[in-house]
Amino acid sequence: MIFSKATFLRSYSGVGQIKEATVPEFAFIGRSNVGKSSLINALTSKKDMAKTSSKPGKTQLINFFTIEDRVHLVDLPGYGYAKVSKKLREEFEGLITEYLLGSEGLFIVFVLIDAAIPPQRIDLEFIAWCGEHRVPIGIVFTKTDKKKPKQTEAHMTAFETEIGQFFEELPVIFETSATTKRGIETLEQWIVEQMEELGR
Ligand code: GTP
Ligand code: MG
Repeated sequence: MIFSKATFLRSYSGVGQIKEATVPEFAFIGRSNVGKSSLINALTSKKDMAKTSSKPGKTQLINFFTIEDRVHLVDLPGYGYAKVSKKLREEFEGLITEYLLGSEGLFIVFVLIDAAIPPQRIDLEFIAWCGEHRVPIGIVFTKTDKKKPKQTEAHMTAFETEIGQFFEELPVIFETSATTKRGIETLEQWIVEQMEELGR
């Protein structure tokens, strides 16, 4: 599977529009501005296939990209940032919830976590929510280039400790940077391995 052969498939504003799943979907979610679109571009060696922005909230639809009709990469809208916990339910209602709970094709959702900042409550609560609803997740730390290595490590370790409370076994975890490309090949390789295990 050649990731650079990825192309934009289409955007959806509702899950009802999504046709029957034909290929496994690997989705990406996280707080707005965490680097979802940048990660998808890094994975597929594109400059701006997924639109990136320094302004939060750029991705407001569910965007599907296809790699040779074998895998779909799904760019989900950001779940907002610094929202208080009471607002959380409303945040997750709507498009994201509908997709995560309703999509037939979803194989895993990668939850992107900014490694340049300490653990954020909204991320922890989102991950707990996924656990409760049996939504399969992986963790992808982003922006590992942004702070000093020691600080980055401390943020990631703290985060893993926090989510350790929700899981008997930690989800799969990747450490990436769209800027330096750290961890990008590892993530690609993992996706390829999952496809092989699925016999696809
Ligand atoms: P929304 O679609 O708005 O939810 O944002 P997003 O999660 O898709 O983030 P996007 O990829 O647009 O990136 C947001 C900002 O972070 C941009 O200014 C990127 O250049 C920057 N950024 C993304 N990845 C990295 C990274 O690995 N390292 C650094 N230093 N900056 C990054
Ligand atoms: Mg985006």
